[in-house]
Amino acid sequence: MTDHLVLTRPDDWHLHLRDGPVLSTVVPHSARQFARAIVMPNLVPPVTTTAAALAYRERILDAVPGGLSFDPLMTLYLTDNMAVEQIARASDSGHVLACKLYPAGATTNSDRGVTDIRNIHGVLEAMERHDMVLCVHGEVTDPRVDVFDREAVFIERVLQPLVRDFPALRVVFEHITTADAVHFVRDAPNTVAATITPQHLMYNRNALFQGGLRPHHYCLPVLKRERHRAALLEAATGGSGRYFLGTDSAPHARNAKEAECGCAGCYSGYHALELYVAAFEAAGALHALEGFASHFGADFYGLSRNTDTVELERASHVVPAAFPFDGDELVPLAAGDTLTWRLVT
Ligand code: NCD
Ligand code: ZN
Repeated sequence: MTDHLVLTRPDDWHLHLRDGPVLSTVVPHSARQFARAIVMPNLVPPVTTTAAALAYRERILDAVPGGLSFDPLMTLYLTDNMAVEQIARASDSGHVLACKLYPAGATTNSDRGVTDIRNIHGVLEAMERHDMVLCVHGEVTDPRVDVFDREAVFIERVLQPLVRDFPALRVVFEHITTADAVHFVRDAPNTVAATITPQHLMYNRNALFQGGLRPHHYCLPVLKRERHRAALLEAATGGSGRYFLGTDSAPHARNAKEAECGCAGCYSGYHALELYVAAFEAAGALHALEGFASHFGADFYGLSRNTDTVELERASHVVPAAFPFDGDELVPLAAGDTLTWRLVT
């Protein structure tokens, strides 16, 4: 049995870091594992300009512990009235790599998102010209659509037309959760890829109700049936460059999760790589981890692969119950569970 793993240092292609004092908790966790991360722009207010993205980037860099290097790759939040000129400015900055499409109302801090994709056709054309990546939260918000079907319906209503109308636009279908999404990406042109989170590889929707309501397993898109988890695991471990690591680590304070109307988001930033290793090992696919975690995302984004490495050892340890978080606590995914792999630092 293998008990040491050395991988090219991975990157996180979908990460929420938030802002303010909590950066000093979450940035060191990510920087310990990952060389780079695509940082989501759903702050309050959202990051809609290059100036705001660059200022946010500096605040993140200030929270990186000495001795670690971490490159935050920034994104802009698309709104119905984003000016087309923003795209050239973002592209020229060298630090803004992508724009994020949140359908208005789909998830945490998405109220200023796009109400109709037709409102951003000009911006998408400019992104296509500047070869800027579009990151997509792929769920419809139509209240008539069952919450478990929102991703599948989004493929039909929005993604298929989008990929047809913008054939040169690179699109990342973020945090996919269904077999439908796996098949869509597999059959789409090579301008389309997807990220997969640790929680969607580890759990099916039963985890939301195991012995009671489990708010720390609640994220969006919500966990799905076992057959969808199996399809995601097969995609992640199958060696295709179209699926890569994106944690969607989304920290929320305990009181915001364990509430009458709890926030969506799982915090995996502390131990994401160890969680992915466990999921890949359980699938008998450790050999496929390096491509998924460290190569395919960089290739898709057109960046060079990292040249340094990380090491993991087989050693059991318990996921901490919580971290201090802005006067409250942050409960990590799988808190209190025993993990069998540990990152060596
Ligand atoms: C994310 C957050 O909290 O910002 N929540 C989540 O459940 N994934 C937003 C998102 O990516 O949908
Ligand atoms: Zn997210």
